[in-house]
Amino acid sequence: MNYNKKTVRDVDVAGKKVLLRCDFNVPQDKETGEITSDKRIVAALPTIQYLLDNSAAVIACSHLGKPKNGPDPKLSLAPVAKRLSELLGREVIFAADVVGEDAKAKAAALRPGQIMLLENTRFEKGETKNDPELAKAMAGMADLYVSDAFGAVHRAHASTAGVADYLPAVSGFLIQKELNFLGGAIANPKRPLVAILGGSKVSSKIGVINNLLEIADTIIIGGGMAYTFAAAQGGKVGDSLLEADWMAYSKEMVEKAAAKGVKLLLPVDTVCADAFAPDAKSQVVRSGEIPDGWQGLDIGPETVKLYCAAVADAGTVIWNGPMGVFEFPAFAKGTEAVAEALSKTNAITVIGGGDSAAAVEQLGYADKMTHISTGGGASLEFLEGKELPGVACLLDA
Ligand code: 3PG
Repeated sequence: MNYNKKTVRDVDVAGKKVLLRCDFNVPQDKETGEITSDKRIVAALPTIQYLLDNSAAVIACSHLGKPKNGPDPKLSLAPVAKRLSELLGREVIFAADVVGEDAKAKAAALRPGQIMLLENTRFEKGETKNDPELAKAMAGMADLYVSDAFGAVHRAHASTAGVADYLPAVSGFLIQKELNFLGGAIANPKRPLVAILGGSKVSSKIGVINNLLEIADTIIIGGGMAYTFAAAQGGKVGDSLLEADWMAYSKEMVEKAAAKGVKLLLPVDTVCADAFAPDAKSQVVRSGEIPDGWQGLDIGPETVKLYCAAVADAGTVIWNGPMGVFEFPAFAKGTEAVAEALSKTNAITVIGGGDSAAAVEQLGYADKMTHISTGGGASLEFLEGKELPGVACLLDA
């Protein structure tokens, strides 16, 4: 996939109406609807500010949540418009629909230097079906399409990809930054390239493992998925997470890595617990020797040493998925030690979105990493080497 895309700087935006796709799919408090993290809104500010400063009229849009049957007041983008207005220190005009009368009238009246936000794009049924009529109607309000919604580029939806059939399409600064770091780490990494893969399931990381086996010099496996690898080597994993259907695959990957000369590191010890609970009784055992009734919840101290040594002289590190149940402080040590090791290397450190980003932030190492992706599913599909529709639709530089 070509990661070298035209950006807002490569086109004339002055006096243009710009349809700007953002990822304002922010977490909200279930009871009050209050936005619990405005990170995604903040991440879009540089592009918005650039467009406004350069006399564009900005028609911002995004999805929020997964509304199934049209408009749902609980998933309105109105609170996002309010927060965006506070962050920008200027009015954000809010349209009550996506391509209805209100949106069209407000878009037509929008002047250079003004910004409006459309209602949740998924209130339109055609959005997730990438309906050309919806894409055309959205495009009809603007002269230029700018996408800065990295978190949604893996979706081939009307507002993330379809509109690009009707308007010149370029990237904003956030997508440019994500492509730079994620793309750089994959396409042209400073070597050695070390990939740290964790998380609970092998089955959700198949594509990533397959792709990274072709690219990385070292692959480190941690988290719940390590127990499927341990069981595949004939180890005892007690009550640990196990995907029996993926044992054969795990074994094959170990063999494939050996044949390719890729170093594949598996845990040598495990912190196991007598229950899945923050205050469970715990002990350290050798990998593959977890007693019945016990479950692995973190990598052990010897594994920590091994993994930290592996990243110490890396050129690039890509990290996707925690090493253990970091939400429980007693089982966060492995994840924390890896985060600390990453904060000390001179390597380019690229953290995939979702759980790994949350872990690095929660443990206080966020500002020590080169790049933390804002995409969860999107960064995963990126690491799988898949073509991302929301990137492919943008003009090549
Ligand atoms: C995300 O939160 O990962 C993106 O906004 C995509 O959301 P989706 O999984 O609902 O498409």
